[in-house]
Amino acid sequence: MSALFTPLTIRGIELRNRLWVSPMCQYSAVDGMPNDWHHVHLAQFAAGGAGLVIAEATAVSPEGRISPDDTGLWTDAQADAWSSIVAAIRARGAVAGVQLGHAGRKASTTSPLTGGRGTVSIDDGGWSTVAPSAIAYDAFAEPVALDARGIEKVVDDFADAARRAVAAGFEVLEVHAAHGYLLHQFLSPLTNHRDDEWGGSFENRVRLLVRVTEAVRAAAPDAAVFVRFSATDAAEGGWSVDDTVAASRLVADAGADLMDVSSGGLVPHQHIVPGPGYQVDYAETVRRETGLLVAAVGMIDDPTFGEQILADGRADAILSAREWLRDPHYALRAAAALGAPNPAPAQYVRAY
Ligand SMILES: Cc1cc2nc3c(=O)[nH]c(=O)nc-3n(C[C@H](O)[C@H](O)[C@H](O)COP(=O)(O)O)c2cc1C
Repeated sequence: MSALFTPLTIRGIELRNRLWVSPMCQYSAVDGMPNDWHHVHLAQFAAGGAGLVIAEATAVSPEGRISPDDTGLWTDAQADAWSSIVAAIRARGAVAGVQLGHAGRKASTTSPLTGGRGTVSIDDGGWSTVAPSAIAYDAFAEPVALDARGIEKVVDDFADAARRAVAAGFEVLEVHAAHGYLLHQFLSPLTNHRDDEWGGSFENRVRLLVRVTEAVRAAAPDAAVFVRFSATDAAEGGWSVDDTVAASRLVADAGADLMDVSSGGLVPHQHIVPGPGYQVDYAETVRRETGLLVAAVGMIDDPTFGEQILADGRADAILSAREWLRDPHYALRAAAALGAPNPAPAQYVRAY
């Protein structure tokens, strides 16, 4: 029996296997609206056997977009546009998820598809960015420190986006608290220099993520809620694996069901050496210390490697990103390689 192809039920939602699609920005939306590109891109992974397809970091407000070309869920029209994509994913046997995000000081940046980098100026369609403190990332524009009302608006925006995501049919909602975006900026002492209730102590820095998680849970009582963490900033004085363990317990109490354990992205001087499974130790630590459900991610490109990680009890599911881009039918290939029952659609069964 393959561990990777053993179903998993979270909050009553059955996932047919544990080989999932990690969120991937496509920088292909206009005014936050997903379109034909997103439809084909995401539905192909469902046809390719994924248990769960998580749509890209989708902004909860216009100013929360990483680039002007990001998808959003700040309008009902965006939710409508998502609904047919969700239906296509579900019709192909996968569960549909979406990552809800706010980019904070890393918002209003040039889409990498254009070959550019850095802040898009307001004259060129960019916007003024916000963060816990007025500290710029690298050569990006300096953000404005959020005031108390601005912070409450972030919580409300996540809740409203969660409600729209449910209306669109998404069953898994992932709160993006990783990769140096807004919620991560609040978590880390390197980017959060506030001296009010939202900064300073660990309890204060983690407060916004806990509030957002509670709000998403309240807005989407039946959804499976995931939180993506960067387990470490990989920089001196930054957020640590121990912090991630402690914060995982708090967000689980706030209603989160699974921890998705990534790393880095907060500061340009981070020291990370990517290699096969380079973040699995972090996932394993969170799982061991908290007993919570955990997904591992990061260069787990081979089904036998993913299988081993699960069989060894280091994680409960594997998220892959780039391997799905190389082969959108990755899970069909993986099932064949592992001798597991193949999730191939009836139309494709003759290939196996
Ligand atoms: C094209 C692309 C877009 C990505 N966009 C996101 C995103 O929207 N949200 C996120 O949390 N991670 C994003 N990531 C990171 C992936 O989800 C994943 O964590 C990372 O690529 C490591 O997994 P891999 O080695 O299987 O690709 C992106 C990665 C790629 C390659």
